[in-house]
Amino acid sequence: MPQSREIQLVARPTGQPTEDLFRLVTAEVPDPAEGEVLVRNLWMSVDPYMRGRMNDTKSYIPPFAVGAALQGGAVGEVVASRSDSHAVGDLVLHMQGWRDYAVGPARSFRRVDATSVPASAYLGVLGMPGLTAWAGLFKVAAMQPGETVFVSGAAGAVGSLVGQLVKLRGGTAIGSAGTDEKVSWLREIGFDAAFNYRGGVLAQLQAAAPSGIDVYFENVGGEHLEAALSVLREHGRIAVCGLISDYNAATPPRGPRGFMQVVSKRLRIEGFLAGDQGPHQADFLAEVLPALADGRVQARETVVHGLENAPQAFLGLLAGANTGKMVVSLSA
Ligand SMILES: NC(=O)c1ccc[n+]([C@@H]2O[C@H](COP(=O)([O-])OP(=O)(O)OC[C@H]3O[C@@H](n4cnc5c(N)ncnc54)[C@H](OP(=O)(O)O)[C@@H]3O)[C@@H](O)[C@H]2O)c1
Repeated sequence: MPQSREIQLVARPTGQPTEDLFRLVTAEVPDPAEGEVLVRNLWMSVDPYMRGRMNDTKSYIPPFAVGAALQGGAVGEVVASRSDSHAVGDLVLHMQGWRDYAVGPARSFRRVDATSVPASAYLGVLGMPGLTAWAGLFKVAAMQPGETVFVSGAAGAVGSLVGQLVKLRGGTAIGSAGTDEKVSWLREIGFDAAFNYRGGVLAQLQAAAPSGIDVYFENVGGEHLEAALSVLREHGRIAVCGLISDYNAATPPRGPRGFMQVVSKRLRIEGFLAGDQGPHQADFLAEVLPALADGRVQARETVVHGLENAPQAFLGLLAGANTGKMVVSLSA
């Protein structure tokens, strides 16, 4: 029976979370029961939605429990199996991250193939963030060839794929990010225009899109949403993926000014969740997997090493320390 380290939530944050809200403890892992597998985690994901789960509020996903291990996407290797469907050595994707070992019913551990892609890609470009980008752009915003798309949070896991998908489908991609280095990388991977939002959003967006935008892929909120409303063309669409500038707000965030433009321009705004996009999984992978394999899509990662540094990776993600997908490597 292996000893497993896990990261537990100690208390709930008010505003910006800090490292003292997490603790590393050692727990015993039970032997797998009939139909179960034991998995040694190799990679775990930290994602912005985890900030919402630290609050004790009703949402589309239950809050993390105080005094228990956190949860989240992870990729690991089956080390013991009492199921016919999984063999020792299989690589699996599952939701018991934030710990060294995971045990549970084999059906909760999806087998993945990492012969031609890195295993960690299943937490990013080929995983939940990738599906979010693909479905938000093509199914929610219904982006068409020739259209101009603005994406905020563009140097992150979701945003960097959104811009590259726009280019693959013959559109114009504009992105914003929080450092000049990230902006340079966006240009390198094919964005037509990119700017550092710390210099203000509206004037830079107007300069990048003098005749307006058709789609705004919303990852940030606030000033970004106000600027996008102003620059959207008539019958534009906004896919509301996330509002990360609000996640650490201790008081209710301000809404965007100019919301009446939704009416005057007959805009369609739609929020969406990755969890509802399962039916598009096969179409998403059919487009993105070959593009990743032949280099038309670049998937950058920021890697933090060691389970004990997972809280630091998560807090860094919220503060913009990542370019591309932030992942934690758990292998020695
Ligand atoms: N609807 C869904 O099902 C779904 C699924 C996945 C993700 N999402 C959402 O998609 C967005 C991106 O997620 P991701 O996983 O790809 O994360 P990510 O973009 O890889 O990482 C988060 C990034 O947000 C930026 N950021 C943090 N605070 C900000 C602020 N106040 N203003 C502007 N940017 C800020 C930082 O980059 P900078 O250096 O550029 O500031 C940071 O690197 C988030 O809003 C997330 O909640 C939604």
